[in-house]
Amino acid sequence: AITPNPAPLSHDARAAQMENPAWGRVFTDHMATLRYSRDKGWHDAKIEALKPLQLHASAVSLHYGVEIFEGLKAYRLPDGGAQLFRPDANARRFANSAKRLVMPELPVDLFVESVRALSQIDRDWIPTADGASLYLRPFMIGTEETFATNPSGAFLYCVAAAPVGAFFSGGAQAIKLWVCEDYTRAAIGGTGETKCGGNYAAGLPAQAEALRQGCNQVIFLDAIERRWVEELGAMNVFFVFDDGTLQTPPLTGTILPGVTRDSIITLARDMGYQVNEAPYAMDQWMADAKSGRLVEAFSCGTAAVVAPISEIKGNNHNFQIGDGTPGAITTRIKTALTDIQFGRAPDPHGWCQRL
Ligand code: PLP
Ligand code: COI
Repeated sequence: AITPNPAPLSHDARAAQMENPAWGRVFTDHMATLRYSRDKGWHDAKIEALKPLQLHASAVSLHYGVEIFEGLKAYRLPDGGAQLFRPDANARRFANSAKRLVMPELPVDLFVESVRALSQIDRDWIPTADGASLYLRPFMIGTEETFATNPSGAFLYCVAAAPVGAFFSGGAQAIKLWVCEDYTRAAIGGTGETKCGGNYAAGLPAQAEALRQGCNQVIFLDAIERRWVEELGAMNVFFVFDDGTLQTPPLTGTILPGVTRDSIITLARDMGYQVNEAPYAMDQWMADAKSGRLVEAFSCGTAAVVAPISEIKGNNHNFQIGDGTPGAITTRIKTALTDIQFGRAPDPHGWCQRL
């Protein structure tokens, strides 16, 4: 059982911090922790005041990147209550990530219990502002004290949380993307479909270049032909054509299987749209945008929700999408998704779990 040990902020201090937090820089009062060792299995579940973690200088996560994480949100409901969106889907992806990095698989019910317990004790931190929510960050690190590169035998699982609003600075209505042609994010047999910190570290030079170029995010192409659109640094991508069909790159092992991506495929099909999971070449995207065959494009993820794409920049690809403003289908899909998340519409697929 999880034993709470509250150390809350005063109401005024919390209100001041929640005024306009930069994304992911203000944190709640608590964290949930759980340990794993070879001899004890999962043990020592706690909810305690958020505090720095103590690690031995040789802890394997610090040297060999033995780290995985998740991202999901708690949403404030119209009746003042709150709910989680598809925590079981994040739990299953976390277990897959663990398997890939030879870490112990946290049972789905323990994952869900940990995020529920933290959201409940920090429920006053779930924002009420329009579009804002509580971002939950479960993660696991190898803590075994050794410079040896064998799989770790000791782990710390932890959940921290941050009240968040718009992911893109200035709350960008539509985002600009930089096409990365120097670096790739993932190769077949690698960790592309794993939510491990190493993927993000390796993507940083591309993201830094995107920012230098005045773009919000980077588009990664496949590692073999450098031709097929895979995903963005922190989001999946969808294309909308003039015949009303949608397309998104298939899950071939090199892209992250987004919970938002999966939810959008389901909702779009419910709404009567045809959605194809099929490869799309960067050159084709440019040609289709210029000819008018492609009318909208958007990116999606837990943090960024649904973000229309207005413009593509790159060494060989420079074009605008539509008239640069959010498209009608993108807006319809974003509304359908967020209405379920915020409890403004029925939840036909049973995705939400009330706190
Ligand atoms: N792709 C990458 C690389 C991500 O970091 C994320 C964010 O989690 C996504 C896609 C979208 O996944 P989800 O919708 O589960 O948040
Ligand atoms: C998320 O959308 O949850 C992500 O993980 C994106 C993140 C890397 C900021």
